[in-house]
Amino acid sequence: MLLALSFAFSVPLLGLCAEPGWVSLNVTVAQNMTDMDYSWSQVRVLIGTPPQPVDLTVNMGGALLAAWSSGCLYCPGSTPFDMSSSSTLEPNNAPWSGNSDDGSGMWYHDSVSFGGVLTNSDIDFVSLQFMSTNFDSRLLNGVLGLSVDPPDAKYPNILTKMWDAGTLMNPVIGMRLDPLKPRLTIGALDPEDYVGEINWVETGTGGSVFSPFKIDGLKGYNGSFIPFGVDNPVTSISSLLSNIYVPPSNPYALYDGYTGPVQSINLYPDGGFAFGCNYTSQSQDLSMPDVFLTVTINGVDYPMDSAYNMIRPPSLVSAAGFCNVALKNTTAADDVDVMLGQPFLRSVYLAYRFPTDNCPGYYGFAFPSGANRTQDQINQKPTSTPSSSSQCLVLSQPTSTPSVSSLGNKKDKGTGAFEVYGGDGKQVPLLDAEDLKRVVWNKTLT
Ligand SMILES: *[C@@H]1O[C@H](CO)[C@@H](O)[C@H](O)[C@H]1NC(C)=O
Ligand SMILES: *[C@@H]1O[C@H](CO)[C@@H](O)[C@H](O)[C@H]1NC(C)=O
Ligand SMILES: *[C@@H]1O[C@H](CO)[C@@H](O)[C@H](O)[C@H]1NC(C)=O
Ligand SMILES: *[C@@H]1O[C@H](CO)[C@@H](O)[C@H](O)[C@H]1NC(C)=O
Ligand SMILES: *[C@@H]1O[C@H](CO)[C@@H](O)[C@H](O)[C@H]1NC(C)=O
Ligand SMILES: *[C@@H]1O[C@H](CO)[C@@H](O)[C@H](O)[C@H]1NC(C)=O
Ligand SMILES: *[C@@H]1O[C@H](CO)[C@@H](O)[C@H](O)[C@H]1NC(C)=O
Repeated sequence: MLLALSFAFSVPLLGLCAEPGWVSLNVTVAQNMTDMDYSWSQVRVLIGTPPQPVDLTVNMGGALLAAWSSGCLYCPGSTPFDMSSSSTLEPNNAPWSGNSDDGSGMWYHDSVSFGGVLTNSDIDFVSLQFMSTNFDSRLLNGVLGLSVDPPDAKYPNILTKMWDAGTLMNPVIGMRLDPLKPRLTIGALDPEDYVGEINWVETGTGGSVFSPFKIDGLKGYNGSFIPFGVDNPVTSISSLLSNIYVPPSNPYALYDGYTGPVQSINLYPDGGFAFGCNYTSQSQDLSMPDVFLTVTINGVDYPMDSAYNMIRPPSLVSAAGFCNVALKNTTAADDVDVMLGQPFLRSVYLAYRFPTDNCPGYYGFAFPSGANRTQDQINQKPTSTPSSSSQCLVLSQPTSTPSVSSLGNKKDKGTGAFEVYGGDGKQVPLLDAEDLKRVVWNKTLT
C-alpha cells in the first residue's frame, strides 16, 4: 500500500508557498470560430489531494467555480472531478443556488491550485452531480469564473480568496484567447503577452452583468462611429458569447460606408446578417469577405480579426452561399447596450484588476503580441487615465517566469494507479508519480 501519497504530495509540491507569486497557464482555445463548433476555452486547474487536473471552461463574465463530478452521467468533458479520491474535500452542506430539474450540485471546499504554483487549501466550489442533456450551459468539465463581483459574496471568488491569503503578487489577471498564443496569467501581467500601453477603464457593479464599463462606440470600414442611438454604450465582456451584440438601431449592414465593399448581404429577420461568400462543397474553395469592425475604448481603436472570427464559413445555420457575420442585436432583456464576446477576446489582450477592499475593478486593454497589428495601432494612447490609478493600478512587474509544476500541464492522466490514504483501497491515476520522492511511512494503521 502506498499510504503516504497525500503527504508526499502536499509538502514538496503544493504546500508552504510563502512568497506571493504569479503563474502563466496555457489555455486551450478553438482554432477557428465557426457557427456550430464548441468555441469556449479551457484552462487546467488542480483540485483536491492528491491534486486532480480538471480542465475548466474559462468564464470571463461570471464568478462561479464549479467542477462536474465524475459520477455525473451527462456532464460533458473528459476530466471530471472525482470527489471520493480527494482526502481533503469537505462539504459546505449548502445546495447550489442554480439547482434545477436539469442540473444540481452542492457546495464543497478543498485545495485548489493553479499549476502547482498558486495554491489555497480552502476554496469553495460547486460540484455538479447531476446534469440533463437540457441543461442550458453544457460547458466542458466545469467552469472557472474569473469575475469578482461582488467581492463580498457568501463564497468569495478564488481570486479574492488567494489575494486575501497573500498568495498573489498583484490583484490582477491577464488573458489572451487568440489561437496564436492563448494564455491566462494570475497574479501578474506578463510583458511577453502584449504590446502597447495598457488602457485601463474602471468597471462598475450591479445589474445582471459582471463588471459593466463604458466604451466610445464601434466603428465600421470608413472609421466612422456606427450610430446606435446611445452615447458611450454601457458594455460587458463575456467569454461565453460567440458574437458581438449591439443596440438594435444598428445600421451597420445597410451602408457600405460601414461594411466596406461586399458582393451581397442577406439580412435575417432576427437582426443578424450574412455576407455572400464563394463556397461550393464540391470545390471546398472558400473565400470570405473581410468584416471591418473596431471597438473604440477610451480613445483607442481595437479592430477585431475577421476570418474565422467576425465571419464564419457557411454552416447549417447560414443561407446557401452566405457566411454569417458575428454581429447581432442586444435585446431588451440584456441589461447593457453592447456585449463583447469571443470575437473581441480573440482579438485583444485583456487585463482584469479585480476589485479589492479599497479599489473598484478595472479592465485593461492592449494588443496581443505577435498579432497582425500595425505600429500605428500599437502606438495609440488612451484619452484619459482612471483617477485612482496611483492607488489601485500600480502593479509589480514579474521578474521571471515561474515554473509551472509539470502536474499543471501534462496532457496525460499519469502513470499507474495509486491508493489514497484512508480511501478504503480506492485507486487513482497520478501524474508524474515517478518524479515524486518516496516517503517511507512506517506508522501502522489500526
Ligand atoms: C482555420 O482558420 C485558418 C485561417 O485563420 C484557415 O486557414 C484554416 O483553413 C481554418 N481551418 C479550418 C479547419 O477551417
Ligand atoms: C461612413 O459611412 C457612413 C454610412 O454610409 C456615413 O454616414 C459616414 O458619413 C461615413 N463617414 C466617412 C468619414 O466617410
Ligand atoms: C435588430 O436590429 C435591426 C437593425 O440592425 C432591426 O432592423 C431589427 O428589427 C432588430 N431585430 C430585433 C429582433 O430586435
Ligand atoms: C466571388 O467570385 C466572384 C466571381 O469570380 C468575384 O467577383 C467575387 O469577388 C468573389 N467574392 C469573394 C467574396 O471573394
Ligand atoms: C493583417 O491585417 C491586414 C489589415 O487588417 C489584412 O488585410 C491581412 O489579411 C492580415 N493578415 C493576416 C495574415 O491575417
Ligand atoms: C504550453 O503550450 C505551448 C504551445 O502549445 C507548449 O509548447 C508548451 O509546452 C506548453 N507549456 C506547458 C508548460 O505545458
Ligand atoms: C521509520 O522508518 C525509518 C526508515 O526505515 C526509521 O529510520 C525510523 O526509525 C522508523 N520510525 C519508526 C517510528 O519506526
